[in-house]
Formats: sequence, structure tokens, C-alpha cells
Amino acid sequence: MDKKKAILAIDGKDPIELNILRGSLGCQELDIRTLGAQGYFAFDPGFTSTASCQSSITYIDGDKGVLLYRGFPIDQLALNSNYLEVCYILLYGEAPNVKQFHDFKISLTHNSLLHEQIYNLLRCFCRHAHPMAMLCGMTGALAAIYHDSMDVHRKSHRDLIAIRLLAQMPTMVSMCYRYATGKPFVYPCHDFSYSGNILYMMFSDPSETYVINPILERALDCILILHADHEQNASTSTIRTAGSSGANPFSCISAAVASLWGPSHGGANEACLLMLEEIGTIENIPVFLRRAKDKNDPFRLMGFGHRVYKNYDPRAMVMREVCHEVLNHLEVKKDLMEVAMELEYIALHDSYFIERKLYPNIDFYSGIILKAMGIPSSMFTAIFAMARTVGWIAHWKEMYDEGIKISRPRQLYTGYTQRNFNSKITS
Ligand code: ACO
Repeated sequence: MDKKKAILAIDGKDPIELNILRGSLGCQELDIRTLGAQGYFAFDPGFTSTASCQSSITYIDGDKGVLLYRGFPIDQLALNSNYLEVCYILLYGEAPNVKQFHDFKISLTHNSLLHEQIYNLLRCFCRHAHPMAMLCGMTGALAAIYHDSMDVHRKSHRDLIAIRLLAQMPTMVSMCYRYATGKPFVYPCHDFSYSGNILYMMFSDPSETYVINPILERALDCILILHADHEQNASTSTIRTAGSSGANPFSCISAAVASLWGPSHGGANEACLLMLEEIGTIENIPVFLRRAKDKNDPFRLMGFGHRVYKNYDPRAMVMREVCHEVLNHLEVKKDLMEVAMELEYIALHDSYFIERKLYPNIDFYSGIILKAMGIPSSMFTAIFAMARTVGWIAHWKEMYDEGIKISRPRQLYTGYTQRNFNSKITS
């Protein structure tokens, strides 16, 4: 990194010299780490202008609509790769050769079975519990099982944790679906691809042969690739923060799942589909648009806007294509897609959305695809969590590889100044 300097002058005091850091791509960044020692903190709620770490995993240019995993453009990966290869790239930094890929796949398939106690844990949930509640519990509970890989300071343990999580997340997510729908659990099958196995575990009937639909298999794989990582979003920052204390990695994943659940983050795909269903027909769109623009109404158009992308989300472009392909293939009723397309058109031409740079995001399309595939909307965020697990683990591992430092943000205190205490309950 370059060693350029910036000068910070405050109230005529001696100027403070700050280093300017430059990564391999992107903005220049002021190194403010020395400010605290000089009696100042930076105030930046929501981290709109603050980098919390350095990372070499994923790069986003929100203005240009660019997303790179380890330097590789997302559209190239979505078209020419598969989810497991992308996982390898995110975890280890380079594309695998044939042997590396084969060994990676074998290690995942050999670790995909859940401990039977996890099934017993799942049986304790109400059947109508939200799958994300089940997933928070199941991922956290893995900490009670894998005592042989708990030394987070040992690389071999961290590598094993990564494989176990990546291998077992599809099993857990599929089991949530089977449990919620009262269907018997189906164990993973080594004959299928990562995505094919997910379809098999979710939709097969134990008394019949299951034939995988290649278009749906590819669509699911694409959804997983596009959601695999997205640099320092809320859930990834959560796993870094939770993990920075040296906490058990499975509980950190559970924390990330909880963060993802929110409707401003991973919960948006479910919220978006519910919104499209609520809108119902093209004639109802103007009412919802009015509500979205009304400052006194908390309603927002779900699936629009992004903290980082102030241009078209490059993942949304790919997802749009896949969406059309799946809908055409399945010949499902296209009411929702018609509402979605009209909403997209209006929003792209409406000054409110243009001025605020609010474009459709990936969740706008992924929910429609998942619904067409027969996956209930309550499962959408769990599918997202499954896809993002590799990103969470890659960041958690990177944090350890680079030297762990506990996350401890500061605050702008706005409470009382010091005052004397007089109890109101004792005379
Ligand atoms: N509908 C209507 N207005 C919106 C929307 C929306 N979806 N998103 C932002 N705005 C408006 C805000 O009201 C605000 O208007 P103002 O300047 O007049 O006050 C302006 O756009 C900026 O909004 P912020 O909340 O400051 O933008 P921020 O970057 O903090 O929020 C977010 C980003 C949370 C994604 C927001 O756009 C949103 O809530 N979108 C809907 C939920 C959604 O789709 N989330 C998925 C994100 S992608 C993902 O996690 C995979």
C-alpha cells in the first residue's frame, strides 16, 4: 500500500497527520487508528464511510455495478462455474485444478450427515416455527457436538470447521423444510451435485426414484453463486464481530444467521414476494408506489435499493435471466412476474427512484424463482443463509489468518452528564 498522508486540522490545534491507505482496487482510505490516542473518535453509524477490516475476498464497485469474487467477475462465475467451484475460490483464493476440486467435493460429501442429536433438536421446535429460528438453533447447537475441532487458533481445526459447515448447511436447511411440512427426513445422496442434492433432500419421496430437473438444478446453483459473498454486509460483519472475541465458530454462524434474517438484509426476498402477492395485479401498483414515497409511511418497496449498489445490482441482471428461463420452462402462471416487471419498469422511470438511485436488487428476482420451484417463501432466507455460509466462513478464516483483534466500536455519548444519585424508593 502507498504511504500518502492527509492532514486533519481541528480548532487551530496542531494538525494531525493521517496515513492514506490504498487497496488494490477502490477508494483511498484514511487510516484513523491513531485518532483515539489524540482524543478524537470518528462518528459513522451504520459504517457508511468506514472500513472495518481489510480483505482480499470480494470487491464491489457500487457505482459501476461491479462484483468480483477473488478478482473474478460475478457474471462469468454465474455463467461458467458451479457453486462448489465458487466455494473453493472464495475459501482458498484460486480456482481449483481437477484433483483439488475432486478432493474438495469428496471431503464435503463425507461430512454432509448431521449428528443424530441435531435431528432430535429439530423435533423440539413447533412445526410452524420459522425456518430461520430453527437454523439459528441448529447451527449454534453444532458447538455442542464438534469438540474435536474447537481450537480456533489451529489452522487445521479452522479448515475442518469450514468443511463441516459447508457440507451440513444444505442438510440442515432441507431438514427444516421437511420438518415444517411434516415429511420424513431424507439423508444426503453422494450421487448428486451440491445443488442437485439440495433438491433431492427437499423434494424427493422416499418411496419413489427422484429425477433431478437440470434447469432447476442450474437455477438453484446460480442463486447460490450469486449469494455466496458480498463483502462486509451486516451478517458478515456480525460473524467477524462475534468471532473477534475468539467465540466458538458455530455460535458465530448462528449470530450471522440471526443478522441475515432481518427484512433489510436477507429477509428481503421473503418480504419482496409477500409484497408482490399483496400487490396482486398491475392496477394496484400505484397505491403501493404512493406508500413507498410517503415519508410518514414506513412501507418500502422490497427488493429495491441497496446500501452499496447505486447502479444496477450485477447479480440482479443474471437473476433476471434465470428467472425468465425457469418461468418459461415450468410454464407457471406469470401473474407475479407481470407485477414484478411492471414495478421494475415504473421504478426505473420514476424520478423518486432515479434520484435516489434505487434499482431492483437480487432479492427482487430470487424470490420469484424460488417460489416457481415450489419452495415456500418462509424458506427463502434459509436458502440465502445456506448460500452465504461460504462467505461467512471465508471471512471468519481470513480474520484469523490476518491476526485477530477484538471488535470494540466507540460511541458518541448523548446521555446525562455526571449527577448525584438519590434513591426514590427509600426514604
Ligand atoms: N423503497 C422506497 N424508498 C426507499 C427504498 C425502498 N426500497 N430504499 C431506500 N429508499 C429511500 C429512503 O426512504 C431514503 O429517502 P430520503 O432520502 O428521501 O430520506 C433514500 O431512499 C435513502 O435510503 P436509506 O435508507 O438511507 O438507504 P440505505 O442505503 O441505508 O438502505 C436498504 C439500503 C436497507 C437496502 C434500503 O434500500 C431498503 O430498505 N430496501 C428495501 C429492502 C431490501 O430490498 N433489502 C435487500 C438489500 S440487498 C440484500 O441484503 C441481499
